[in-house]
Amino acid sequence: MPKKIVLAYSGGLDTSVAIHWLQQHYKMDVVTLTVDLGAETELAAIKAKALKVGAVAAYVEDARDRFVQDFVWPALQAGAVYEGVYPLATALGRPLIAQMLVDVARREGATAIAHGCTGKGNDQVRFDVSTHALAPELEVIAPAREWELMDRAAAIAYARKHGIPVPVTVDKPYSVDVNLWGRSIEGGKLEDAWLEPPEEIYAWTKSPHDAPDEAAYVEIGFEQGVPVSLDGRRTGGASLIQRLNVIAGEHGVGRIDHLENRLVGIKSRENYEAPAATVLVAAHQALETLTLTKDQARFKARVAQEYADLIYNGLWFTHMRDDLAAYVASTQRHVTGAVRVRLHKGSAAVVGRKAVQSLYRKDLSTYGKEDTFDHSAAVGFIKIYGLPTVTQTRAQGGPAHGGVNAPKPSPKAKRSK
Ligand code: ARG
Repeated sequence: MPKKIVLAYSGGLDTSVAIHWLQQHYKMDVVTLTVDLGAETELAAIKAKALKVGAVAAYVEDARDRFVQDFVWPALQAGAVYEGVYPLATALGRPLIAQMLVDVARREGATAIAHGCTGKGNDQVRFDVSTHALAPELEVIAPAREWELMDRAAAIAYARKHGIPVPVTVDKPYSVDVNLWGRSIEGGKLEDAWLEPPEEIYAWTKSPHDAPDEAAYVEIGFEQGVPVSLDGRRTGGASLIQRLNVIAGEHGVGRIDHLENRLVGIKSRENYEAPAATVLVAAHQALETLTLTKDQARFKARVAQEYADLIYNGLWFTHMRDDLAAYVASTQRHVTGAVRVRLHKGSAAVVGRKAVQSLYRKDLSTYGKEDTFDHSAAVGFIKIYGLPTVTQTRAQGGPAHGGVNAPKPSPKAKRSK
């Protein structure tokens, strides 16, 4: 009996060619798995196509809720944004697909899994490392890493020769990956880092220029750092993100143009559309400004950067991720409240925030007569807080850039050689 391999199947040309190629080259039976993470593709047609091209079985699974609950929300709670701009949509989707490939491989008694990634991106690393973390015994095969020389024309020729349906839109100027959390667009003209991204790359966002002149407001409700309501109505995770993508996209929010550092050492020009992610990251962070102390916020920001790198670098399924997740979960226990965001011509601005257990106390911060802050205590505080600075100036003179009035060092305080 031939061995079995489970292929992550998108329905596109490359993974269709891969079904045939794996059978020919490795003499394996190919089972396909298509995971719905919210890309809004024709799932029934993809399944039919897999079987037509020669798969012995074709799985199609809706993993939108699992994606949001187990991957997107933990990343949002962490504040994980790669290099300060990329909310990690593609990077969060890969480990879940790998996990589901492993599940199907076990169910089917397969000895290997396969994916359509090439040998120069991050995605291959995420698939391979996630698979091996969960199932070291499974082999991972990436046909496109072995074909390296098969370009688009060659793939089309291969498909025609073997009766694999070729999409009518043969002209495919960009490489695009889509899930609920965002669209990633790369390649083609965008490889010119000086070129402004053409309008045609966007599918979810209006150009800020064409967005409504009138601003829109959204109110996001959070419980322990997880978004639970939109404009006061309780909404499930996936549909909250979907609706926010539409609302914020209409106002041109969430376009990201980044020159990015890939794990494999290459710098690459990446474009993203992530309207909901842009709004939610800003709103979540705003709620934390009310509910975390300065020390908690400062430390969490460092963790967020580590966490973002870890996700980007394909290390989701690691003990290190478990540890960071435990810390983040602990920080979220009082992050409950609501945030109001104004959407207008490409910008998402937080304009209001409130929390059940807010640390903001107006009676302490006010300049009005309700003030309860003890002003007289400030004198003693400043005396002790400033003590090391005053001591140093007395002993060693003022700082070099203290200006013309900086005191000269006292003669007694000569520096020892
Ligand atoms: N640069 C992004 C990342 O590594 C997006 C990758 C997009 N993949 C694609 N096939 N277009 O997460």
